[in-house]
Amino acid sequence: MSVIRAVACGCGRYLPERVVENAELALTIDTSDAWIRTRTGIERRRFAAEGEKTSDLSIVAARRALDDAGMTGSDIDAIVLATATPDQTFPSTATRVQAAIGMSGGFAFDIQAVCAGFVFALAQADALIRTGQARRAMVIGAETFSRILDWNDRGTCVLFGDGAGALILEAREGEGTSADRGLLATDLRSDGRYNELLYVDGGPSTTGSAGVVRMAGQEVFKHAVLKLAETGATALARAGLGTADVDWLVPHQANLRIMSMTAAKLGVPMERVVVTVQDHGNTSAASIPLALSVARERGQIREGDVVLMEAIGGGLAWGAAVLRW
Ligand code: UT7
Repeated sequence: MSVIRAVACGCGRYLPERVVENAELALTIDTSDAWIRTRTGIERRRFAAEGEKTSDLSIVAARRALDDAGMTGSDIDAIVLATATPDQTFPSTATRVQAAIGMSGGFAFDIQAVCAGFVFALAQADALIRTGQARRAMVIGAETFSRILDWNDRGTCVLFGDGAGALILEAREGEGTSADRGLLATDLRSDGRYNELLYVDGGPSTTGSAGVVRMAGQEVFKHAVLKLAETGATALARAGLGTADVDWLVPHQANLRIMSMTAAKLGVPMERVVVTVQDHGNTSAASIPLALSVARERGQIREGDVVLMEAIGGGLAWGAAVLRW
């Protein structure tokens, strides 16, 4: 049976220039390189320069993805941008990208599922493409989390970084089997009973300011391993695949221990897990597209490979997507 599939045809990333090593943080925060490395796997992260906005990071990543796909802005008819750190409350950061890349038609909007945002955005783009509302969609994950950190809270401020990644999806015909290229399945979940485990203590209708990140790290950790393994297995089953079919697991890059425990639960060996957390830290919605772009550059993900992505964050919101590149 002929079906429409959302097929990956280009990706790009941008990281701000400023590299901040763990040792630099330890100069002003009561922490150490050893603690951060052993508890999280993070060695360094990037911070946006003063005045450098989420849209600025997104626009560079978007242009690089267009170059990779051999396209221009006018070839794109939808942008779905996942961020928890938009330039402004409105307009959407996505419309800033739309204007900058010269995309004259179509539509652009932001979605908010924090660290799970890229997976949620992929599912939206997939639906738009499969229902004929867009032929080519750009999915972006972009964050400037350095703007919403409490520098007096060492349990959170050492974890996060800034960056943006973009992936272009194009409608192509498939057979309707797991051998097709493109997005094969997604699984989206949330449970608002866990709002208090990970949140920002501000916002337009509460304090009128952006607020800073608050997290019950250990609690989130426990939920993460269980929920990520479960959503990953669900998405794979929906795609008609098993863990043995997974060429690359591309997890949200929050913590190396979470990634290795989830991979073990799923039965995916670490040699097949894309890890970038050491260089990027936790970049929330940007972490998966950044990792995809790095993995493509490393030659890890090739055409035809099955890629399983999974992420969890504030909400709690979590989910997974299976893509045959
Ligand atoms: O991206 C969204 C999803 N978020 C996540 O997936 C994050 C999930 N959680 C985690 O990754 C981990 O819980 C953390 C990395 C945040 C923390 O690691 P942990 O092993 O759970 O540490 P902990 O919070 O239990 O703290 C252990 C100790 C405490 O000291 P005491 O009470 O044992 O004396 C903390 O005060 O480590 C201390 N500590 C630190 N020490 C040095 C906490 N933060 C730091 C720090 N440097 N930065």
